[in-house]
Amino acid sequence: MVIIVVALMVIGVIFIVHHVLKSPAFAYRNRKLPLPPGSLGYPYIGETFQLYSENPNVFFSSKEKKYGPVFKTHILGCPCVMISSPEAAKFVLSTRSNLFKPTFPASKERMLGKQAIFFHQNDYHLKLRKLVLKAFMPDAIRNFVSNIDSIASRTLDSFDGSLINTFQEMKTYTFNVALLSILGKDEVKYREDLKRCYYILEKGYNSMPINLPGTLFNKSMKARKELAQIVAQIISTRREMNNDDHQDLLASFMGDKEGLTDEQIADNVIGVIFAARDTTASVLTWIFKFLVDNPTVLQSVTEEQEAIIKEKEGKSEEERGLNWSDTKKMPYTNKVIQETLRVASILSFTFREAVEDVEYEGYLIPKGWKVLPLFRNIHHSPLNFEDPEKFDPSRFEVAPKPNTFLPFGNGIHSCPGNELAKMEILVMIHHLTTKYRWSIVGPQNEIQYGPFALPQNGLPIKLSSK
Ligand code: HEM
Repeated sequence: MVIIVVALMVIGVIFIVHHVLKSPAFAYRNRKLPLPPGSLGYPYIGETFQLYSENPNVFFSSKEKKYGPVFKTHILGCPCVMISSPEAAKFVLSTRSNLFKPTFPASKERMLGKQAIFFHQNDYHLKLRKLVLKAFMPDAIRNFVSNIDSIASRTLDSFDGSLINTFQEMKTYTFNVALLSILGKDEVKYREDLKRCYYILEKGYNSMPINLPGTLFNKSMKARKELAQIVAQIISTRREMNNDDHQDLLASFMGDKEGLTDEQIADNVIGVIFAARDTTASVLTWIFKFLVDNPTVLQSVTEEQEAIIKEKEGKSEEERGLNWSDTKKMPYTNKVIQETLRVASILSFTFREAVEDVEYEGYLIPKGWKVLPLFRNIHHSPLNFEDPEKFDPSRFEVAPKPNTFLPFGNGIHSCPGNELAKMEILVMIHHLTTKYRWSIVGPQNEIQYGPFALPQNGLPIKLSSK
């Protein structure tokens, strides 16, 4: 008995020593270059507690002040290098992006689908990216403007005179726009089922990945399976009909010559809904807030949007609807969107992982370490933007310095949906400012992170016709 216990203890010790020696946090010790400045905190827990006990942005800024724009820390069990200079962000995301791969928790991969674009590098990623870009480039999305115009108009009409949660309602709007751009006219038939499944799926995003009957994670995985079945059903109907007049993302995936499997298509449809919905809804929510907080900005936006309506007076009802060229007559509104993206920085940072030992500015970034470009710090640095906390759309009359404005990321994984996002935001602002007034209900000085930066409680507002 004693021998067995001793043997088990020895095996345990060998296992732990082996694990520690192989862990990325330990592996750097034999190498010549120094690590970036900073602290790795306590063993295992690192500085996770400090990060979560205060506003994460205060944590990042205080570290940056102390150690400079490239510093090390240890959070959520991972050694990390955080970077907050435009040059370092360019190095990681763009010029040397081959040395850094995207990285996500395994549970996220299981939920969105392992074959979704975000999780890949090299050939498969490039192939998907081409297909996604084809569906979201200006020439493709210009055909959706009038449909998006109707969705925006209907959405706001339904709130007239009500108290609403801006974020929740904008999520419905951006979900409907995402489905339209992914499934085109097929979305109407499947919208309610897709919505039901997607809403169950998202409840499990932040749950413990325990796949046992009754857990949130288990319900999410079931909803995910059902979503994939609906997508497979749409694909099979399209194949039977054998017509190729669709101009949506699904058509782009199905038209690929080498062919994607139904499973690959489903993973990417679900992935794009995920990427498109809460991001755009968060930005829209901030716009509702910033326009109320800045009455002169609201006045200028309203004047620009009313001028578009005025130009169309006397035309037929169909011609009075917004079209692509109208969205090009909104230069001031565009600057308001840019400034919102900068100030709100809804994605405070992103994650990469070094695929080999990397030298940056005389420091070692060891293989396996996470690397976090801190978008919010770059957008809020006085070195990059004068008086950075001020909401001032006119600052975008001059183009920002290179690599200082990264709301859609940079390089090979930058956002392929950015044109669609900006267009649907412009259309919503058009209807909002020309037909409605709104006021914020309750205190609104706090930011919540879930995970995107959002006004407190999703910004409850009262909205009514002018
Ligand atoms: C204002 C709204 C949006 C913001 C702020 C935003 C931001 C971003 C950022 C920062 C990235 C890069 C992340 C990284 O490098 O790790 C990204 C990637 C991505 N976004 Fe967006 N996004 C928005 C809307 C959309 C929309 C509407 C779509 C689709 C229609 C979309 C689809 C994607 C996809 C597929 C990726 C992954 C690209 C790849 O890995 O190659 N996004 N987004």
